[in-house]
Amino acid sequence: MGKNPVTVTVTGAGGQIAYAALFRIAAGDMLGPDQPVALKLLEIPEGVRAAEGVALELTDSAFPLLQNVEVTTDIAAGFDGTNVALLVGARPRTKGMERGDLLEANGGIFAPQGRAINDYAASDVRVLVVGNPANTNALIAQRNAPDVPAERFTALTRLDHNRAAGILAEHVGAPVADVEGVSVWGNHSPTQYPDLTHATVGGRPAYEVADPEWIRGPYVERVAKRGAEIIEVRGSSSAASAAGASIDHIRDWVLGTGERWTSVALPSEGWYGVPEGLVCSFPARSSGGRWSVVEDLSMDEFSAGKLAASVAELEAERDAVEELLG
Ligand code: NAD
Ligand code: LMR
Repeated sequence: MGKNPVTVTVTGAGGQIAYAALFRIAAGDMLGPDQPVALKLLEIPEGVRAAEGVALELTDSAFPLLQNVEVTTDIAAGFDGTNVALLVGARPRTKGMERGDLLEANGGIFAPQGRAINDYAASDVRVLVVGNPANTNALIAQRNAPDVPAERFTALTRLDHNRAAGILAEHVGAPVADVEGVSVWGNHSPTQYPDLTHATVGGRPAYEVADPEWIRGPYVERVAKRGAEIIEVRGSSSAASAAGASIDHIRDWVLGTGERWTSVALPSEGWYGVPEGLVCSFPARSSGGRWSVVEDLSMDEFSAGKLAASVAELEAERDAVEELLG
């Protein structure tokens, strides 16, 4: 007998990231080639026609794994029975803005969505927040869903992790598949810290393969500001790479990472001195459908300072949205 379908909700379904994600989800890239999916596309009235168009194209793609597509602007219907929720729907920044500048415009989206997830989603729901500022939006959603275990709320720093691996591989002229042990710490913002202390390229320490001065200077800066670089060069914010990273995140969460680790923003349980509850990026592995932070990594003074600066920014964002925290 075939598997029961998994219900996946994607918010912002008429937008550019969703357009790059939905067809891959329906093709089985996220949950596996034998896992049927039912899609719920949640939009606001301004975006619903675009989402309806995407639904037409999903039908026309005749994906064997796709059981059903529902388009809705009703938040309760959008999260009813959902197992996996990708919270993408939010305004993107434009040139000259920081992601934190979006807090006022986007923060208000995530309290009602957290409440709807709390009230209507399946008991095994897993949530990935992509809409910026992703860490603090995830905190808002999580705090409005008191009946859902906090660890089920995550934010996307897999894109930063993939960038950290890709930019290192390009610089040293190695295939990206040879890069292991990258860690992204902190906020999905320019204060994030892509850390190569424990990274290897083809089994050799990254700090031997590349110049340490480059790693701690231009490299960290380039990875941390890659989102702005994409906006500058492409004219709008990253879409296919963000969709791909979201799919990587959920696939690894559900199906496991094995021994290699990746980077995930999730509510801190005090790891590495990060205050409890802050949605902060850590290196983590997944097994049995649960993330476990890699807890025993050594951290020198430079790295600890970088993490502390990003945590301070997360604390300031949290304090700015106090009234939304349920
Ligand atoms: P987009 O403008 O193309 O699409 C956003 C869609 O969300 C629009 O169709 C809009 O109608 C919809 N929307 C707005 N409010 C909504 C709500 N309350 N419920 C449901 N839908 C809603 O934007 P995009 O390029 O797809 O980016 C979406 C978000 O993802 C932005 O905030 C962007 O900054 C962020 N982003 C995050 C990362 C990351 O790594 N965390 C990477 C790329 C982009
Ligand atoms: C990214 O990192 O590409 C996204 O967060 C979009 C942005 O505003 O930088």
